Amino acid sequence: MNMGDTAAFLRCTETDCSSQYPISERYYSCPACGGLLEVEYDFRFPSTPDALKAAFRGRKLEDEPAYRSGVWRFHELLPFVPDLSRVVTLFEGNTPIYDAPLSSDYCGLPGLRFKHQGMNPTGSFKDNGMTTGVTAARMSGAAAVACASTGNTSASMAAYAARAGIQSLVFVPAGRISHGKLAQALEYGARVIELEGSFDDAMRIVRELAVESGLYLLNSVNPFRLEGQKTIVIEMLEQLGWTPPDWIVLPGGNLGNCSAFGKALRELSSLGFIDRVPRLAVIQARGAAPFYTLFKSPKRDRLVPVTQPATLASAIRIGSPVSWPKALRSLELTNGVVEQVSENEIADAKAVIGRDGIGCEPASAVTLAGAKQMVSNRIIARDSTVVCVLTGNLLKDPGYTIDYHSRKLKLDTPEGERMILVTRANTPERLPADKAAIRRHLKL
Ligand code: F0G
Repeated sequence: MNMGDTAAFLRCTETDCSSQYPISERYYSCPACGGLLEVEYDFRFPSTPDALKAAFRGRKLEDEPAYRSGVWRFHELLPFVPDLSRVVTLFEGNTPIYDAPLSSDYCGLPGLRFKHQGMNPTGSFKDNGMTTGVTAARMSGAAAVACASTGNTSASMAAYAARAGIQSLVFVPAGRISHGKLAQALEYGARVIELEGSFDDAMRIVRELAVESGLYLLNSVNPFRLEGQKTIVIEMLEQLGWTPPDWIVLPGGNLGNCSAFGKALRELSSLGFIDRVPRLAVIQARGAAPFYTLFKSPKRDRLVPVTQPATLASAIRIGSPVSWPKALRSLELTNGVVEQVSENEIADAKAVIGRDGIGCEPASAVTLAGAKQMVSNRIIARDSTVVCVLTGNLLKDPGYTIDYHSRKLKLDTPEGERMILVTRANTPERLPADKAAIRRHLKL
């Protein structure tokens, strides 16, 4: 396979540093200044953007394992692997883009679409980043990989590490991740440490452990993760015939995805694949919205962590997002915005997405709730084209969904327990096993 002769290197994203390192170095932050690193390329393509677009599409019909992946079929845009036969893949990506009439009506946007990353092999967008992250881990000879997680990263890392025959070690906040995600990590053979602390505690500890012990860190501070997550945007644009939407709306937690999306758009635009850059809208849950607060602050120079983040969207219950400086740059590049939404808004938006026959986990539903709010605030015009990224599958968190439909959804906040009002409950009806009673009840 011709990989071209593009050179890849690590570069510090702090503009006044910009130090460069070979990709063989196992750095998760810049040794010179502590800034976040990214993988940079001196892109040299053997062909034009149009020829590459045709090649990306054609690969969907090929049997080559790497080309059956919706990440690696775009490999010219993430060329850090010298040999595609060595990638660790579960045939991730190639996820659908849906129209959704009820959701469109709900937020007042005829031009709304959902890109459903929950249709990935382990049910979340993390798979796009883990195929590249675990491939990089294998290239660097890692014996064990590790992450902190609110659930999805651990599920995905465990699966890809199992495929690669590498031991995985995950740190999750005890009792604060959904059963679906915990079950996945256990089943795929990860060693699971339930930490008596928050996600932010787990993140801090695992970052330190990685530097001290040689564990290979697979959180999104690992720049190779973000290379895979770029393809969410690349594939979305392909599905839209390379006509960029006006807006891309995504949830914000640890802010890796926002960082990856901005990088994808920067590269696609500078390489001539697109002639216009969509605006990014990052949506946070109100009880865990440090990036929103930063964005609304006059100087935007310091993120103040939320010490007790509170949201039922457990995937994004994060008070101190690691990638905020990169994510902020993504917003500057795209004229992006950050908004926050309430628990009620998340819960109802999720139910609407379900009624479109699509469904998603709570964190993903912030996108529709955010789009609705931005339409009413006239930030998004009604005739805009908007793609909301659904990051995780409905089945990731069945407990939330059942509580919603049983009107038992409640949130623990630092101030105490609070019931979440719901407007679209579809409550199960319990009946005796008696046909006559059933006929009477159903008026049959
Ligand atoms: N949506 C889902 C379903 C997630 O699992 C996450 C993050 C996000 C959105 C936020 O993405 O961190 O890139 O801003 N989950 C991580 C985890 C933190 O550990 O699974 P982000």
